[in-house]
Amino acid sequence: MITNEELLNNAKDASQKAYSKYSDFQVGACALYESGHVYSGCNVENSSYGLALCAERNAMSNAIANGETSKIIKIAIFSPKTSLCFPCGACRQWIQEFAKGYNTEIILEDNSGEIKIFYINDLLPHSFELI
Ligand code: THU
Repeated sequence: MITNEELLNNAKDASQKAYSKYSDFQVGACALYESGHVYSGCNVENSSYGLALCAERNAMSNAIANGETSKIIKIAIFSPKTSLCFPCGACRQWIQEFAKGYNTEIILEDNSGEIKIFYINDLLPHSFELI
């Protein structure tokens, strides 16, 4: 099983591929699914600023595009620009979608290099659900 450190290292590698020419704020994410597969993503910006795609949603889209159907167990998120790069509100709702009822771990690193773990149910209580 991949370690939290390895997941964060994947997120760091992904952040180096960010297309962030407008904000200069690089983000990388790496999600571990119950299947054991991992998928990474970086943020991708656009000259029409509001069209920016977050790293987390890119990673989860990458999973779907590769046929992943299991739930997200953990997702590591990293930005060299900030300590504890929490997922935005939209990405929290996306994580909740693919957590499929599981209390997914959100793995972040602070600026001293320490790993902190949060849980999606704490970051997004009372999330929207159909039916
Ligand atoms: N960003 C992410 O990739 N993930 C988040 O959870 C929040 C923000 C990106 C979007 C944009 O490219 C840049 O960070 C600045 O907002």
